[in-house]
Amino acid sequence: MQDRAALILAAGQGTRMKSELPKVLHKVGGRAMLDWSIDLARRAGCSRIIVVVSAGSQQLQQHVTNVLGDDAFVIQDPPLGTGHAVRAAEDALKDFAGNLIVLYGDCPLIPETAVSALFDELSGEADLGVLGFEAEDPGAYGRLIRNADGNLEGIVEAKEASPEQLAINLCNSGVMAGACDLVFDLLSKVTNDNAKGEYYLTDIVGLAHAAGSVCRAVTCDEDDVLGVNSRVELAAAEAIFQAKTRSAFMKAGVTLTAPETVFFSYDTEIGADVMIEPNVVFATGVHVQPKARIRAFSHLEGAQVRSGAEIGPYARLRPGADIGENARIGNFVEVKNTAVGEGAKANHLAYLGDGAIGPGANIGAGTIFCNYDGFLKYRTSIGAGAFVGSNSALVAPVSIGEGAIVGSGSVITNDVSPDALALGRGQQVEKPGWAKGFREKKKREKSSKR
Ligand code: UD1
Ligand code: MG
Repeated sequence: MQDRAALILAAGQGTRMKSELPKVLHKVGGRAMLDWSIDLARRAGCSRIIVVVSAGSQQLQQHVTNVLGDDAFVIQDPPLGTGHAVRAAEDALKDFAGNLIVLYGDCPLIPETAVSALFDELSGEADLGVLGFEAEDPGAYGRLIRNADGNLEGIVEAKEASPEQLAINLCNSGVMAGACDLVFDLLSKVTNDNAKGEYYLTDIVGLAHAAGSVCRAVTCDEDDVLGVNSRVELAAAEAIFQAKTRSAFMKAGVTLTAPETVFFSYDTEIGADVMIEPNVVFATGVHVQPKARIRAFSHLEGAQVRSGAEIGPYARLRPGADIGENARIGNFVEVKNTAVGEGAKANHLAYLGDGAIGPGANIGAGTIFCNYDGFLKYRTSIGAGAFVGSNSALVAPVSIGEGAIVGSGSVITNDVSPDALALGRGQQVEKPGWAKGFREKKKREKSSKR
C-alpha cells in the first residue's frame, strides 16, 4: 500500500460563527470538529497529518501541536483560496512520496468508508479522486462535471457555472485525493483568474483531465459532508451526529424508549440489552456494560456503569464514577471519582465524592462524603456490607469498616471499626408531658393579654 498523508484545511476565518473560539474547535458530539477530521485521517491510515491554519491563530496552532505534535501545522498567510492553502504545505510534504488526501477542518461527519473508497480509486485506475454528493439544493457548491464514461472532466465553482452546469446536482464535498507529487505539480499551474480571484483547488481536476489523467468521483450522502459555517449549521451537524448514533446503538441492541431525547458523545460505549429511558445525556467518556439500565433524566460523564447496574432517575455520574455490577444509584445522587461495589445501593439524595464503597453497602438518603476542606480533597472508604444511616456527614479522610453501621444523622470524623455501631450526634432527651404543659402555659398567657 502507498503511504498516505492528510492535509486538513482550517485557515478560513470562520467569521459567521461570531466566536472568539476558532471555528474548527467548536464541538460536535463532544469533540472539536478539527479532531473529527484528524481522527478520520488516522483511521484512514494516514501516517502524516498536517493542518493548514491562518496567521495569528495561536489557540488553533496550540491545539494542533497538542494533538499531533510539533511541525503538524503550516501557516497560510494570507488565505488566497483552497488551492493556495494546499500549496502552503508543499514544503512540509516535499519528502513525501505517497498519496495525499485533502480534508476540511469544518466538515466533521465524513465516514471512513468514503475516504477508503477514494483511496481504492487511486489503487485502481484513477489519478485523482473526488468525494461528491447529490445535493438537494446545490446552491453555492462546486459542480462535478462527468463525461459519458463516468470520469470527471472538471469541477466548476457555482460562480463560474453556466446555467446547464448549475442544473447539475452532483456536488463537490471538498475532499480530494491523489498522488502527492501530481497534486503539487497540477497546483503549480492553477491561476486566480476567476470570479473570486482565488486559487481554486478544484481547478486541478480539469487540468489533470486535459493532461490525460483519470479523475473519478465517489459519492456519499449529503448529510455526511455537511460543512459548518454558522452556529445554525453546527446545531444541524450535531443533530445528524445524534440521529446516526442513536440508530447505530439501537441496531447494536440498545433500547431507547425516546431516542430523540437521548444525547451521546463521540466516545460513548453502550453494551447490548442496555435500557435507556428518556432525557438522558451521555457527556464524554462514558462506558455502559450490557444489561444496565439508565433511567430518565440522568447525566453521565467520564463514568463506567457495569452490568446490571441501575442509574437514576435523576442521577448524576461525574468523572471517575465506577458503578459496580447490579449496584443502584437513585434519584438526586451525585457520584464523582468513587467506585461503588457490586450490589451496593445509594438510592436517594447523596454526594459520594472521592471514595470507595464496598460490595453490598447501603448508603442512606442524604449521605454526604465531605471530601473538601477548601484546599485539598480527601477520601472516604466504606467497607463491604456497611450501612450508613440517612443524613450522615462522613468527614474525609475517614473509613467505615466492613459491616459497620453509622447511625442516622451522624457526623463521622473518626474511622469506624468493622461491625461497630458509630453514632456522632446529640443524645436524644425526653421530658414526659412537657409539650402538653407548654401548650397550657401559652394559652393562659395569651388569654390574660386580651
Ligand atoms: C469549496 C469548494 C467547492 C465545494 C465546497 C464544499 C473550492 C474552490 N471550492 O468551496 O467546490 O463545493 O468547498 O464545501 O475549493 N480554506 C483555507 N484557506 C483558504 C480558503 C479556504 O484554509 O484560503 C479552508 C476553509 O477554512 C474551509 C475550506 O478551506 O475549511 C473550504 O473553504 P471555503 O471558502 O468554504 O470554500 P467554498 O467556497 O465553500
Ligand atoms: Mg464553504
